[in-house]
Amino acid sequence: MQDVTDLPFWRLMTRYGGADLYYTEYFRVTPSSGLDKPILASITQNPTDRPVIAQMIGNDIVALVRTAKELGYHPIAAIDLNLGCPAPVVYRKCAGGGLLRDLPRIDKILGALRDAIPGKFTVKTRLGFDTEKTLEALLPLFAKHSIDLVTVHGRTVLQMYTGGIRYDLIQMASKSLSCPVLGNGNVSTPADAETLLRETGARGLMIGRGAVRNPWLFSQIREHLAGNAITYPTGREVLAYIHELYETVCDPSIPDPKGVQKIKKYANFIGEGISPEFLHAVRRVGSKEAFFALCKEHLDHGNAMLLEPELI
Ligand SMILES: Cc1cc2nc3c(=O)[nH]c(=O)nc-3n(C[C@H](O)[C@H](O)[C@H](O)COP(=O)(O)O)c2cc1C
Repeated sequence: MQDVTDLPFWRLMTRYGGADLYYTEYFRVTPSSGLDKPILASITQNPTDRPVIAQMIGNDIVALVRTAKELGYHPIAAIDLNLGCPAPVVYRKCAGGGLLRDLPRIDKILGALRDAIPGKFTVKTRLGFDTEKTLEALLPLFAKHSIDLVTVHGRTVLQMYTGGIRYDLIQMASKSLSCPVLGNGNVSTPADAETLLRETGARGLMIGRGAVRNPWLFSQIREHLAGNAITYPTGREVLAYIHELYETVCDPSIPDPKGVQKIKKYANFIGEGISPEFLHAVRRVGSKEAFFALCKEHLDHGNAMLLEPELI
């Protein structure tokens, strides 16, 4: 996740169990782009002990091919193309999710990248731009270009992050493609993970916001799928996570109120799992002191926390 799941964040995740596989933030690819150094560091200094997939976003074929070749010199498990980013600044330039309006162009990009990438080439997609019907036309393109793994976020681009996840369409992708499919969208609890896997036949899950909200989620899913009891953190353990997160992602030399902005970005996700009152208040704090006073007020207790979002 752009500006969220960076190298320091990955390091923190691994202390909580962590994922089986990590995707980098996307490398923005334009005719004049080079490899973004902080994102490249998450590959060259990968602290996770797990494979890393490098993600690219862009639409210029020459630049994408050049970037894929540059990435090929680094220790990556695959190169991924982003066909899902819903940010208007991205899709208006016909990149990310914007490409889903232009399947002939996707066809050309996939063909050129397939020829240029000797290793694994993967794709992350939404169902379509403004209609989920696009997926049906997209899947044969993935098959034609022998994509090695496809992640499907079960929403259209225009849905952004609202609306239910179309398990039926992720299932359609799983059934029709011979490569593994990962299901993505709204996995916030071990039960969500189990449901998504069961209903879609997906081979695995991609988890975004849920990992920030609940770094124990990966371990909890493993426990649940193995038929074991789920271990939930206490309020104080969640508080300790937020302190660690602050130490990890914030630069203490940046004065407030700007200094506290970065942790508020993460707290927006975490707050969805705490309470609507916390979420409302955290969006308004202007200093580190006020932020931690609020966290203490809501989390200084020994009760188990499910960290399930009420609001999404
Ligand atoms: C702040 C933010 C940044 C994101 N950046 C990326 C990205 O760089 N690449 C990507 O494939 N998806 C990105 N996503 C989308 C997530 O990977 C995921 O598809 C989406 O949030 C739905 O899954 P979730 O409900 O597990 O979060 C981002 C999402 C958010 C909220």
